[in-house]
Amino acid sequence: MLPEFLDFSMRTRVMGSAGLVRELGDQVSRIGGTKAFVVSDRTLEKLGLVGRAKDSLTAGGVAVAGEFLDVPPNSDVSVVERAAAAASGAGGNVLVAIGGGSVIDTAKGMNMVLSKGGALMDYQGLGLINEPLGKLVAVPTTAGTGSEVTNMAVIKDQAARVKYSFTSPYLGPDLAVLDPEMTLGLPPGLTASTGMDALTHAVEAYISLSANPVSDALALYAVKVINEWLPEATHEGFNVEARYWMLIGSNLAGAAFSNALVGCVHAMAHALGGLFDVPHGLANSILLAPGLEYNLDFAAARIADLAPSFGVRPAGPAEETARAVIEAVRSLAKECGLPARLRDAGVREDGLAEAAEAAAMDGAIFTNPRPATAEELLVMFRKTF
Ligand SMILES: [Fe+2]
Repeated sequence: MLPEFLDFSMRTRVMGSAGLVRELGDQVSRIGGTKAFVVSDRTLEKLGLVGRAKDSLTAGGVAVAGEFLDVPPNSDVSVVERAAAAASGAGGNVLVAIGGGSVIDTAKGMNMVLSKGGALMDYQGLGLINEPLGKLVAVPTTAGTGSEVTNMAVIKDQAARVKYSFTSPYLGPDLAVLDPEMTLGLPPGLTASTGMDALTHAVEAYISLSANPVSDALALYAVKVINEWLPEATHEGFNVEARYWMLIGSNLAGAAFSNALVGCVHAMAHALGGLFDVPHGLANSILLAPGLEYNLDFAAARIADLAPSFGVRPAGPAEETARAVIEAVRSLAKECGLPARLRDAGVREDGLAEAAEAAAMDGAIFTNPRPATAEELLVMFRKTF
């Protein structure tokens, strides 16, 4: 097949090694950062990870102008506005985000407001940021969202109970510092669910209608790495090697989906996150296998392509191999101790119809191989409840 069109971009320099955060200050200084504003959350502060990063900044000659450590697990438009106001008051010429997707996306939102002025929601929509923003460095403390390398930020509007996606080629950080030691303390449940988020990025990017040969290469290797290392990272949290490879898998998956986009699994997860605060990775983990089954008639060959990455021997027609891949997804989630039903993730049955309506309107649905109406999504929600 001759692909119609290719457009792949990634503006982030990616560095990785065990203990790399000790070089954070030097690296920030190298890109011209002299006064940093640190963005993180209280849990990471208590674990000493924020202090570790700040010590490194200072040692590298970068002053810490201020910090915002009140990012909640599902960041919010009002949080971004408050954090941006704090950063604006503190001064500084580089944002340093230390955290999971919520923290890094908050910093991306702040970067838009600080660099361009106005309110965060002024930048919701396509093609609104067409020039470089201020300097941003990301140190992920989970291996899941890949936000340290993506061109997008997902931020909730608490009042409207909706998750908005912000997209621009300039949203990606200048530098991603992948240090497995920064993820060692992540508990098994969070390790597993965030890892399944990364897997969902790779799988949905690969079968996406916007997939391209570059994102394909990244997605295939991401699936292989995540499938191989997620159980070990989950059950042996202090295994630095497993943590390293999960950061790599999540990063590759992030680069893939940042360009190829995702599909119905993410559309449904966004809806459940907006309406019921279901953790993003958990929702994706539960819905990935059902989502693939829904797409089977439209993407059997693409799903079957993933077989070697899952360690599944391709056999028989594509549909048969694709079914084996879907079973591999189910058994990986099970091996990592994650539930298979939405009722075990805080979802209420009487909210499924509203969630299906929201998912049908989510931007991620447009690149799903098989078109999906609210009615079809509701059937999937009910089957998975
Ligand atoms: Fe995701």
